[in-house]
Amino acid sequence: MEIKVVVVGASGKMGKEAVKAIHKEKNMQLVGAVDTYQVGEDIGTVSGIGSLGIEIKSDLANVLQETEAKVMVDFTNPDVVFGNLLTGIENGVNCVVGTTGLSQEQMKQINSLSTENDVGVLIAPNFAIGAILMMRFAVQAARYLPHVEIIEKHHDQKLDAPSGTALKTAEAIMEVRENFRQGHFSEEEKVSGSRGGDYDGFRIHSVRLPGFVAHQEVVFGGIGQTLTIRHDSITRDSFMPGVILGVNKIIDKKGVVYGLEHLLED
Ligand SMILES: NC(=O)c1ccc[n+]([C@@H]2O[C@H](COP(=O)([O-])OP(=O)(O)OC[C@H]3O[C@@H](n4cnc5c(N)ncnc54)[C@H](O)[C@@H]3O)[C@@H](O)[C@H]2O)c1
Repeated sequence: MEIKVVVVGASGKMGKEAVKAIHKEKNMQLVGAVDTYQVGEDIGTVSGIGSLGIEIKSDLANVLQETEAKVMVDFTNPDVVFGNLLTGIENGVNCVVGTTGLSQEQMKQINSLSTENDVGVLIAPNFAIGAILMMRFAVQAARYLPHVEIIEKHHDQKLDAPSGTALKTAEAIMEVRENFRQGHFSEEEKVSGSRGGDYDGFRIHSVRLPGFVAHQEVVFGGIGQTLTIRHDSITRDSFMPGVILGVNKIIDKKGVVYGLEHLLED
């Protein structure tokens, strides 16, 4: 049986990619598109693949109920994603979440609610396989080279900083790295913020410029050497195999799965 999927944030950059990817899948059926922008337009036309007969609507609860969706894929923004997830879970819909910026507290609440309601919620700060590997290799390196800084670069329309990927990388490095403050003890910022954000004693730097999609370097320093582990998403279709995998696998889960790597290892 086909998995019925609704895309939320369907008119956005990632939403349109998700619409195209889901439409191509043989075992999935795109049944709805939700956005507050381009309401009433056909999502196929908006995504550049020709009319699909699916109108963009703004009332998420109604769309989920009318379409009897099994999964909703959310690529919206940090201010609305939590509310969307509450709506999805209350309607018994599994969720695949690409939107970044959810707080730890919000994730805890989503975990309790989705477990109680018997639905799965995948929260994946990065759906690109190369980015998952970059994070994994960075954690391995941090065991031997504890002096580290993260530099992430995104397009200038991104709302949250640092990126969800940088935060997840930092959390994972923190698990294996002895906590100490890097740099000179009396270093002084002549321009506020120039040393980046302090995360458990090491620094995260966020670059925002037109032209970037999603890029991250994890730079390690040791005596007489440096090691850089770098990943670049050059186009947004790099994220789509991960989104499709998430839709296929989340329907058999309960509660929150934080990170695509947990489904890759199934
Ligand atoms: N997990 C990943 O691999 C990954 C990759 C790229 C981007 N992202 C994240 O995905 C999110 C979306 O990124 P984007 O570049 O597509 O942004 P975008 O601004 O292009 O798209 C967001 C869309 O959400 C819509 N929206 C806003 N409020 C809404 C609401 N209440 N209901 C429905 N739709 C609503 C907007 O109208 C817009 O069309 C961001 O949080 C970004 O960081 C994640």
